[in-house]
Parts: sequence; structure tokens; C-alpha cells
Amino acid sequence: MAIGEGPQISFDTVLKSIGVSRFFSEFWSSQVLHLPDAASQDILAEIGPLDISNLVSRSHGGTQAWLAGSGSPHASIPVNAQSAVGAFQIGATLYFVDLDAEELAVSFANFLGVPRSKVAINLFATPQEGGTSWHFDANENFTIQLRGTKRWWIAPNESIAFPPENHILGATPSASLAQCSRGPLRTDPPQPSQIVDLKPGEMLYVPRGFWHCTEALTECWSLNLCCGQLMWATVICEALYEQLTSIESWRGSAIGLRHGCNEHARALNRLPLLLGELATRLEDPQKVSDLLNAIQTRDSGASL
Ligand SMILES: [Fe+2]
Repeated sequence: MAIGEGPQISFDTVLKSIGVSRFFSEFWSSQVLHLPDAASQDILAEIGPLDISNLVSRSHGGTQAWLAGSGSPHASIPVNAQSAVGAFQIGATLYFVDLDAEELAVSFANFLGVPRSKVAINLFATPQEGGTSWHFDANENFTIQLRGTKRWWIAPNESIAFPPENHILGATPSASLAQCSRGPLRTDPPQPSQIVDLKPGEMLYVPRGFWHCTEALTECWSLNLCCGQLMWATVICEALYEQLTSIESWRGSAIGLRHGCNEHARALNRLPLLLGELATRLEDPQKVSDLLNAIQTRDSGASL
């Protein structure tokens, strides 16, 4: 894609059988969606031939081999073009990370209204009977099946909404997951609410946090479009950080924060004053408008 040109691919076409409006109002972040006839010729053309060596060379994030039977995204080893072919032949799933498919990535990011840096196009090549064990992801995931049939078991997550991290059933939850959870995370497999056999050309949307596991009924090649977690809290804090650090008094060195610290350091704690100033700032329509503008006009390649 030449600089200054928009993508020719339109992600909207993936949702043509249900419509974009209905997708956002009924399914986004809340319901699983299984659609037929989602893989447009434009998308298939950009992905190109399903050739392991070629895909390895086009994966900006490298290629991983998931060991057969491990069912765990953590039991993986990095592979090159040569070892990837060998690993696939002995039953490993290949995970091509951050594939060079720029038009599709830009179209997907524009569709969602998020920075390009927050989306990634990945590809899985899974031998027959390969797959993943029960887990949930911190990303919003769209899977377009390219070849073969993959069975998905899916269940809502009763313990945590919008998880900040991925989690594998039975693993010890991290402190940040435990903090967001309404109760202990389950350790026994959930009862699936949906079982989907995903066939070539079809799309499956699994909202962030939903439990799922998969098994390839035949050799499978699946395209994964994922939107990394971009929490409202992150958007606002990062934009506020930029604004506040342009003000001299907000850049001062913070001290006296802890109970029991030196009383003179304590006397220099400006936290109550600055929090009051922040509250006033957020009641000022002009400053709120500036903040919104800063977020909405941010460069699409920015970290946020
Ligand atoms: Fe997953």
C-alpha cells in the first residue's frame, strides 16, 4: 500500500451477511458470532498462498511451533522456515505472528476506530487433531477459516469481564486477573454454550474473555484478526498523562507519599492539591474538549 493511500480492502465485507450496525449493537464484546461467506477475495489475495516458508518470512513477530498435545500457548518454541516445516510434519501447530498483511490490518483498525498498532493479523496452521485447551484471551478475536474444519467449544466467563490478560484453565491466576475477578476463577472445564464447526470461508467472532478450546477436525489453516486490549482507562490515562506532563507543576518530583515517612517530606506531598486541580480541570468543558481532541486526532501509529 503506497504512503497516503487508504486500504482497498474493506473489513465491512466480512460482516456483510449480518451488517455492521447489527454486529456492533448485538455482538461486540458480548456475544459469539458465527458467519458464513466472510472471506472476501481481497482478503484471500492479500494473505496469498498458504506456504509455510513464505508465511514464516512474512511474520513480523516470528513463528512459533506449539508442541502437539500440549494444548498450551506457552509450550511453544520459535522456529525458522526450515524447522517450521519439520515441526508441522511431526504434528506441531504453527503460529505465524503479526503477518505482513498491511491493507487488511489498516482496514481492520479503521473499522474498529483504533490505532493500527493495536491490531494484528496472525495465522494458525494446525494439523488434524491439534488445537488448544480451554483458555480465555484478553483480545477481541475474529477468526476466518481458510482451509479445513476446526471445532470450537465456547462458554461465557462467569468470573471476569474484560480480562487484562490471557488465562489457561487450571493455571494460577496472576495478581491482576485475581483483582478483576468477581470470585475464584474456575478450574474445571465449563459447559459449552456453543459448539461451532468452522469451515472454509466462515468467520467466528469470540469476544474478549470468553472461554474456548479448539480441535482441528482436519488439517486447518485459520486467519486470526485480533484487537489488543485497549481499555478506556488506558486511553484516558495516557491522554491525561500527555496533557499533565506539559504543565510544570505536574512534572515535579513526587515525595512524601507513604504513611510514616519523614514529616518534612510529607509536608511536600502535593497529591491532595493536584487531585483537586484535576477535578476542576475535568469540569472545564474546554479542557475536556481538548482532551477528546487529543485522543481522536492521535496519530494512528501512536502507542495508544
Ligand atoms: Fe484463544
